Amino acid sequence: MAKFYITTPIYYVNAKPHIGHAYTTVAADVIARYHRLLGDDVFFLTGSDEHGSKIAKAAQAQNKKPQKFCDEITAYFKSLWDALSISYDDFIRTTEARHKDGVLKFIEKLKEANAIYESEYEGFYCEGCEKFMTEKEMVDGKCPYHQKAPEKISEKNYFFRLSKYLPEIKSRIESDKIKILPENEKKEVLGLFKQGLSDFSISREKVKWGIKFPYGKDQITYVWVDALSNYITALGYPKGKNFQKFWPADLHLIGRDILKFHAIYWPAMLRACGEKLPRTLFVHGFFTVSGQKMSKSLGNVIDPNEMIKKYGSDGARYLIISQFPFGQDGDIKAERFDEKYNAELANNLGNLVARVTTLARNLKFLQKGESSTKSGQILKLKAKSRISNLIVRNWKKYIKSLNNFQIDEGLDAVYEIINYINKYIDDIKPWELQKNNQKKFEIAMFDLLEVLRHIGWMLNPYLPETSKKILEQLGIWEREKTRGFEEIKKWKTEIDISKIKKGKILFPRI
Ligand code: MSP
Repeated sequence: MAKFYITTPIYYVNAKPHIGHAYTTVAADVIARYHRLLGDDVFFLTGSDEHGSKIAKAAQAQNKKPQKFCDEITAYFKSLWDALSISYDDFIRTTEARHKDGVLKFIEKLKEANAIYESEYEGFYCEGCEKFMTEKEMVDGKCPYHQKAPEKISEKNYFFRLSKYLPEIKSRIESDKIKILPENEKKEVLGLFKQGLSDFSISREKVKWGIKFPYGKDQITYVWVDALSNYITALGYPKGKNFQKFWPADLHLIGRDILKFHAIYWPAMLRACGEKLPRTLFVHGFFTVSGQKMSKSLGNVIDPNEMIKKYGSDGARYLIISQFPFGQDGDIKAERFDEKYNAELANNLGNLVARVTTLARNLKFLQKGESSTKSGQILKLKAKSRISNLIVRNWKKYIKSLNNFQIDEGLDAVYEIINYINKYIDDIKPWELQKNNQKKFEIAMFDLLEVLRHIGWMLNPYLPETSKKILEQLGIWEREKTRGFEEIKKWKTEIDISKIKKGKILFPRI
């Protein structure tokens, strides 16, 4: 059984979660669930980034102790992930003792490797990014992500000897030993090497809320060193069983804003400690909302909880991830959520399931006395049909897409089937066959039920509740839930029509 370790960024808890956080987390959940479907031994990690001056200030603004404030906001993240059916295996908080212990061991190793030294930092710092910023990174003197001029600071810090590890990291990226996807993001990272990268501070002097740095006086661990370590501390670094089993990460899923940290700083620090390096970084794009950057002042911050209330958990998952190609920048068209939900979920998918299962129940009724199949209630298909070819072809497309983390293309493969079948039903008119040609009706119904079974399974990573409901309506969930992937995707199953249930409407129209 292959192991698969997948992570999301750990999110800052200075404010409640928004749709940006949900975007990455739902996408990671789709990939994690897909790998479970394949039969892999999956470890899916998410968590919260709770230290640093930004969070201390947010707590202060509400007159709360930082820990209490973090507890509250973290609870919002966890409850959102539950409401969105996020199947994480662990949730790491950087204020937990297990994390702090791991971070201290990691820093100790860096020291032993002579990878850190004391010096002074003078330059710019963007608190929003919690990042030391070069002038090249600014746009009109401002941080491009926070639209604010970074603060000029001068501090005595500990530095990480990044320069020593750069050639090796660069060559590993070039040769895809650390794979950075999509390709343009790899180019972006290689461009950063060209621009020049310098050693960076790994401790802060004037920050109070964080992990005490084990060296120097009154130094706090730089929040990014603290945060990146989560990917190994959650596994019980350095000696934990999970660390032995799951490290290195098979996939760090991140947004473009934190690329440099994940593609350069993190592998370099791991290298210094002699640890294995992450295999793949998938960098998804940044989105705007209805054409504008999401911001509190513009009032266009979308609360995923509101989406869940209106569209249900699977409806919200669908609307969040199906807006634009995964990996590219795009726009979330919030004003079209209703239309998209009605067209793609209520009509194309929901109606299809309702139509086919209702017809199949007619078949059941008909078979009480006058079945044309000798075997009774179980319909078997003998010949391969045009539809079976479509299913086989689209499983291939689905697998290829998801293996490359192209979650939008994987979903397209499912929707190609859904759209084709809707049209097919309109063409063959099974309700007429039922009256005129019973044998043909039964064969058509077998095809349609078998197609639903495949759609049900293909949707499993995307719409886990809906997937289960479809398979339950077909009366095969109990039988199929423990089946291996190879069995699942074969065109062959026998459906016992006496077990088909009338289910609730999957996606009520809005
Ligand atoms: N705490 C750091 C990450 C540490 S990981 C070791 C952090 N947190 S964050 O709360 O700011 O989350 C940033 C991430 O949220 C982005 O990398 C991306 O995954 C997601 N997004 C936030 N806003 C987004 C968009 N508008 N568009 C796409 N993704 C968005 O950075």
